[in-house]
Amino acid sequence: MRLSAAVLCALVAVQAAVLLAAVPAAQAELPDSADDVHKLIANFARKNFTVEELVILSGAHSIGQTHCSSFAGRLSEPADQIVPAYRELLKYKCSQGSNPPVVNNVRDEDYDVVARYTPGFTSRVRKVSDYLDNSYYHNNLAKIVTFHSDWTLLTHKEALGHVKEYAENGTLWDEDFADSLVKLSKLPMPAGSKGEIRKKCSAINHRLY
Ligand SMILES: *[C@@H]1O[C@H](CO)[C@@H](O)[C@H](O)[C@H]1NC(C)=O
Ligand SMILES: *[C@@H]1O[C@H](CO)[C@@H](O)[C@H](O)[C@H]1NC(C)=O
Repeated sequence: MRLSAAVLCALVAVQAAVLLAAVPAAQAELPDSADDVHKLIANFARKNFTVEELVILSGAHSIGQTHCSSFAGRLSEPADQIVPAYRELLKYKCSQGSNPPVVNNVRDEDYDVVARYTPGFTSRVRKVSDYLDNSYYHNNLAKIVTFHSDWTLLTHKEALGHVKEYAENGTLWDEDFADSLVKLSKLPMPAGSKGEIRKKCSAINHRLY
């Protein structure tokens, strides 16, 4: 499936608005890329989104980019949560500037960087970047995903089952993702919001899981 960056940016903006609206403002406790699975499930449930839909929509992380501040905790997580070589790759990327952008999918990473840190993953690097597919689920099972909120899906029995299901069947994910997008698009915008789409996609993308 091909989706332009602009479409995805709009999607993420909607998703962000939806999730933010689910949380009372006074609580000041936003859904976050460091969240654990139960909190993610609760946030989605507030908008009548299921565990399966959480897993489906998380697959959007097969494209796009984030910033180091959004996954700082990942750089010190143990080997059972993130492949150490990939952790080193992320550390290297984050050492290259002040909170630099990093692609969500190792597939879209510079070939030379992958070859240096995670030579076993060079076959995942593709010439065409930002291709929306089910590679997120393969990466997740292999523990080479950027966010704690990605990894944490593996710690929940039902969510893990769906991660495996979508890793095995990309066609199924394409179909279900399209359905979930439609459902997402039907959600009302939060009260008081004009539903404007941000010019800087990363401004919210890095903040929300
Ligand atoms: C969730 O579903 C319930 C029951 O169908 C409905 O009353 C409620 O308005 C829904 N909430 C949202 C945010 O769509
Ligand atoms: C994958 O999903 C598609 C779409 O739902 C379905 O038609 C197909 O039978 C599934 N393939 C396998 C191997 O289960």
